[in-house]
Amino acid sequence: MTLFKKIIFLLLILVICSCASETESTSFRIGFSQAMTTDNWRKQMNRSMQVEASLHPGLQLEIKDAQNDVQRQIEQIESLIEQGVDVLIVSPIQSQPITPVIEKAMNTGIPTIVIDRKIEGSNYTSYIGADNVEIGKNAANFILSHSNGEIEVVEITGLKGSSPAYERSEGFASVIQNANEVKLASQIRGDWEKASVKKQLENILDSIKTPDFIFAHNDRMALGAWEVARSRNLEDDIKIIGVDGLFGPSGGIQLVKEGLLTATILYPTGGGEAIKLADRILSGENVPKNNILSTVIIDSVNVDIMQNQFNRINQQQYDIEKQQEIIGQQLATYRSQSILIKVMIGLSMLLFILGLWAGYLVYKLKKSKRKLEINNKKIKTQRNQIETFAEKLQIINESKINFFTALSHEFKTPLSLIISSIESITDRENKNIQEFSYETSLIVNNSKRLLRLIDELLDFRKLESGNLKPRPVKTGIIGFLQNIYEDFKSEALRKSIQLEFKAPRNEVEVYIDRNMMDKVFYNILSNALKFTPHNGKILIKIEESTKNSVEIRIKDSGIGIPKEEWEQIFDPFRQASNNARPSSGLGLYISKQYIELHKGKIEVYSHQGSEFKITILKGDDHLKEYEVEKNDPGNTYQKQFETVSPPEIGEVTLPENAESILIIEDNPDLSHLLSKKFSNRYKVYLSDGRKAVEMALDLIPDIIICDLNLPEKSGFEISRELKNDLRTSHIPTIILTALNDEESRLKALKAGADAYITKPFNFEILLESLRTALYNREKLRYYYTNRIDRIADENFEDSEQQFLKELNEHIQNNLKDPDFSVEELARLLKISRVQLYRKVKALLDMSISEYINEQRLRKARHLLQDTSLNISEIAYSVGFSSPGYFSTSFKNKYGESPKQFRK
Ligand code: FRU
Repeated sequence: MTLFKKIIFLLLILVICSCASETESTSFRIGFSQAMTTDNWRKQMNRSMQVEASLHPGLQLEIKDAQNDVQRQIEQIESLIEQGVDVLIVSPIQSQPITPVIEKAMNTGIPTIVIDRKIEGSNYTSYIGADNVEIGKNAANFILSHSNGEIEVVEITGLKGSSPAYERSEGFASVIQNANEVKLASQIRGDWEKASVKKQLENILDSIKTPDFIFAHNDRMALGAWEVARSRNLEDDIKIIGVDGLFGPSGGIQLVKEGLLTATILYPTGGGEAIKLADRILSGENVPKNNILSTVIIDSVNVDIMQNQFNRINQQQYDIEKQQEIIGQQLATYRSQSILIKVMIGLSMLLFILGLWAGYLVYKLKKSKRKLEINNKKIKTQRNQIETFAEKLQIINESKINFFTALSHEFKTPLSLIISSIESITDRENKNIQEFSYETSLIVNNSKRLLRLIDELLDFRKLESGNLKPRPVKTGIIGFLQNIYEDFKSEALRKSIQLEFKAPRNEVEVYIDRNMMDKVFYNILSNALKFTPHNGKILIKIEESTKNSVEIRIKDSGIGIPKEEWEQIFDPFRQASNNARPSSGLGLYISKQYIELHKGKIEVYSHQGSEFKITILKGDDHLKEYEVEKNDPGNTYQKQFETVSPPEIGEVTLPENAESILIIEDNPDLSHLLSKKFSNRYKVYLSDGRKAVEMALDLIPDIIICDLNLPEKSGFEISRELKNDLRTSHIPTIILTALNDEESRLKALKAGADAYITKPFNFEILLESLRTALYNREKLRYYYTNRIDRIADENFEDSEQQFLKELNEHIQNNLKDPDFSVEELARLLKISRVQLYRKVKALLDMSISEYINEQRLRKARHLLQDTSLNISEIAYSVGFSSPGYFSTSFKNKYGESPKQFRK
């Protein structure tokens, strides 16, 4: 059983007990065995008992009626004994047969009161009743007092074996025996009831002289005697005396009052007194064994008084009963209400406990909820951590893959250059080595570049495995950096970048691994050069910041690095977003590692360009773990790169209508090589990727070759922008890239690229692709020119056709106007006059004015065919200012005059 159930159970018991205690606390049970209830005397006895019992709230009275059956009375007494009544009251039918069962009750310990009729012996607690011997005597004395001379009496006795019967006889006889004038003429044995008397009395009256008195042992038998006397008209002759003196209709008092009886002797029932006696016994009082009730003779002299008395008593009894009834009802109401209150209190307590219980449950629930929430939170945090970790892992993985992909691409451009250069050498019939100085230096430089990339990779490996240890050498840092500065000077000059070197006058000694530091500064300076535009500036500044350290700042005026990427740029697998070109990204990582191996520091700042600050500690105390060379071995610097200026491309005279190419490529060597190869056939324009779109818009070239990895915008973006612009949308674009994955290929084609060639490439293939693209453009041009009048009717998705449709609409709308100009048309199309000219030339291979003219003549031809307008009307309607000029133009175009054509 749970605690809760236990509490409910206890509470219920409490409520039940409190209800029960209400009844139990005052309760004594009195069992009364009544001989019979056929006559009023007995009924009166019962009633007075009940009235009295009702005055004692602690008493419960149970009356059992034996119905004048001795056996039944015995059984009923037995059952009362068994029930364990607290007091037993018995009014025996007969003395002798009832005696044993009363003794049994006494033996069981039940106090027993005998009332009215007696039992044999004295084994009972108390007897209560009037003195029946006395009653007999009183009757006899009454007769004596009313006699003058000889008197004859008939006695009618009660039931044989019942004590009142023989005691009354005894008393009666005791007086009569001594009085000579009274003679007991006859004795009739009755059974207390009228019926038992009549027959016997009639027989006696028949046989004896009419008696003067009849003494009947009770009023009922006395009335019977009167009825017999009356039937013989003897009622005035015979005086009849009864016993009981009951009040009420046909009671003894009434019979005396009516003159039927001469007198009646009061025989009180003793009911009320018996209950009082029982109460005293129950209270533990010692009560007298014999409780004799007083009696009195009621005759014509006192009958009224007696009747009044009884009337009053009766009335009082009635009032008491009424009040008892009311009290009973109130008590019942009180009980039910008090039970109700208790039940309610119980329920309230239950409710309160339930409330507490609910509160407790809510508290417990909240507690476990909180626990659950905390657990949940923990799990979430753990999950998030795992997710973040997984994400990081994925990013790292992707970065690594990207890194290796980018690295592989880095190899491609130098390889392309090497291959192209070798091809170029082998292709030449006349192999004078001097002519190939540019190609050979390209081969050398790019091979060196490949070597450097491979070196970086190996250094990276060593750093990763922790196997790289610097061998610091005493070095004058200013001299050291000056050498590097000198090395970069010519390259800066070539790029029109101002390279400045600022240092204190006195040399500053530091311990560095020169090989490592070479790489560090070479790398930072190469980057600075790479990201600084023409006419930009790079400053190398050495400062003794503190006693113990020296600071080297390299500041450029390039594109700069967003602040949030300052840390990232040292990550081997990441690089700054401003650098659209993927590079190996190892340079800065390796630089940082090298500097840190020297216990130095590298930091980056960016404000109008980037600034790298390298701090190196002076002395060698911090380098104890390495083998330090205390002697300066002197200048050991080896030139890192030799700049090869590309040879001037010799002047080539191209035909007027030679097609133009725009090459967008940031590798100067490659773009120069391409330029060199194409310049004998095409007008070549070069862009390093910066402002490439603007350049294309300005030039409207016939074809574009574009790299994908470019500094400002990617080749995808450039391609997309050009294809989405009406002015350049017609220009074929060839992508030339190191990226050879499917995704980039698809992305490029989606951006509108016409061909996709990957590095290292074969120049012949590139040239062929270029030719094909131009040829396709030619074919399209032919198609447009031949369908030009149908374009307006067709629903084209193609932007070129859309353009032509728009162009035609504007021309048709203004055909009549002889002053309709190319400027006006360009304005309507929202492009410049030159762009319109180039676009139309590219699409239709004719000038815009030629095209307008052709439209006029075409329309005129239709009018000549389909209308009856005369020639001058037609000439004016298609915008010719004179019919003569119209005719000449028409003839030039179609080989016959308008007149001839109409015929
Ligand atoms: C009633 C009665 C009375 C009589 C008494 C004697 O049942 O017959 O009339 O006085 O019993 O026990």
